Amino acid sequence: MSYSVEVVRNNLEEVRTVDLPDAGTIELADGEAIIRVDRFGLTANNITYGVAGDMIGYWQFFPAENEFGRIPVWGIGTVINPGSTDLKAGDEYYGYYPMSSYLVVRPGHVTPRGFTDGAEHRAPLPPAYNQYSLMTSENGFDREYDAHRMVYYPLFITGFVLDDWLADNDLFGAEKVILSSASSKTSFSLAFLLQQNRNTTVVGLTSAGNKAFVEGMGIYDEVVTYDDVEQMADAKVAFIDMAGNRQILERLHNHLGDNIVCSCGVGITHWESRDGQEPATLPGAKPSMFFAPSQIQKRNQDWGPEKLEAEMQKAWSAFLGSVDNWVTINEATGKDAMVETYKTVLHGAKPDQSYICVV
Ligand SMILES: NC(=O)c1ccc[n+]([C@@H]2O[C@H](COP(=O)([O-])OP(=O)(O)OC[C@H]3O[C@@H](n4cnc5c(N)ncnc54)[C@H](OP(=O)(O)O)[C@@H]3O)[C@@H](O)[C@H]2O)c1
Repeated sequence: MSYSVEVVRNNLEEVRTVDLPDAGTIELADGEAIIRVDRFGLTANNITYGVAGDMIGYWQFFPAENEFGRIPVWGIGTVINPGSTDLKAGDEYYGYYPMSSYLVVRPGHVTPRGFTDGAEHRAPLPPAYNQYSLMTSENGFDREYDAHRMVYYPLFITGFVLDDWLADNDLFGAEKVILSSASSKTSFSLAFLLQQNRNTTVVGLTSAGNKAFVEGMGIYDEVVTYDDVEQMADAKVAFIDMAGNRQILERLHNHLGDNIVCSCGVGITHWESRDGQEPATLPGAKPSMFFAPSQIQKRNQDWGPEKLEAEMQKAWSAFLGSVDNWVTINEATGKDAMVETYKTVLHGAKPDQSYICVV
């Protein structure tokens, strides 16, 4: 039975599964194809797609009816009906999918690297999310690491771009880089790269319950809990904020004042804690949102796409050599397990466990 997992757009606690018509019964329009969604990763990043769904347009990728929305995920799918398109049945693509049994796409610009979904409703959305990569070794896919690709890759690449952006700006003159939600995959990707590449002190800011995990990774020079923000010694700091917790932001800025030389918003893992002082009125560097595509575009120009790709691959390989020491990847199969996994991630999964859903 084909199905889709949907949530109420303005209440992510409300989740349901709906039956879909069997993919074999779908009549495709000219230029459309069907991809079966096989597996995908689920982390706080996907919850953020829901939290910021209206602000950034994430609900528009895979529309649902009435008050419901389909949360996007990074996964692997197989072409099961190429229709009249240039896709080939059986080819596997990595990309952005709904939590559903299949996706109807309108492939444009099909090359050995992949294709772009040219569906009309996706045209106004950021192009990177509309691209699907053919999973060949020529395209950098090592199939032994499919699960890692789905769970970590989009987060690791964000860490890669942040590390490069900080270095490109001489760390804004900071002596320390502080990362909130230090136990998150995006933060520890960045910490891993900063520790390897840069001569700076990396401070992990986390909840009391996740402190032992963060300390155990051995990639943060200091680990501080949210309760102890005011105990931090004065130093020039760059703050990279994955938590998006307004109260912590307020306390940190008020404590360190002008010593905050960079305050960069990246995530909203603490999606239930968005009340606090207006960020623009805080002392120290003005908080601003990180926009990875600008730095990627800059490096494409500075280095050229081949060097950029090679640097990313080198860093990714090094990360793959370490990440299994910290986190176990679990598989959840079928729609009930998918809903349970979604709820676990929504409420904050244990940082040493990550999840793949098998559709
Ligand atoms: N702007 C971008 O381009 C970009 C790209 C990638 C990721 N991001 C963002 O970075 C953030 C991290 O994503 P991720 O997938 O790496 O996360 P993750 O690994 O799933 O993070 C889990 C951690 O987040 C905190 N957390 C999660 N759920 C929570 C809840 N309900 N209440 C309180 N804390 C919770 C906890 O950390 P602590 O206890 O340590 O706080 C937890 O250990 C997301 O907001 C994501 O959207 C942004």
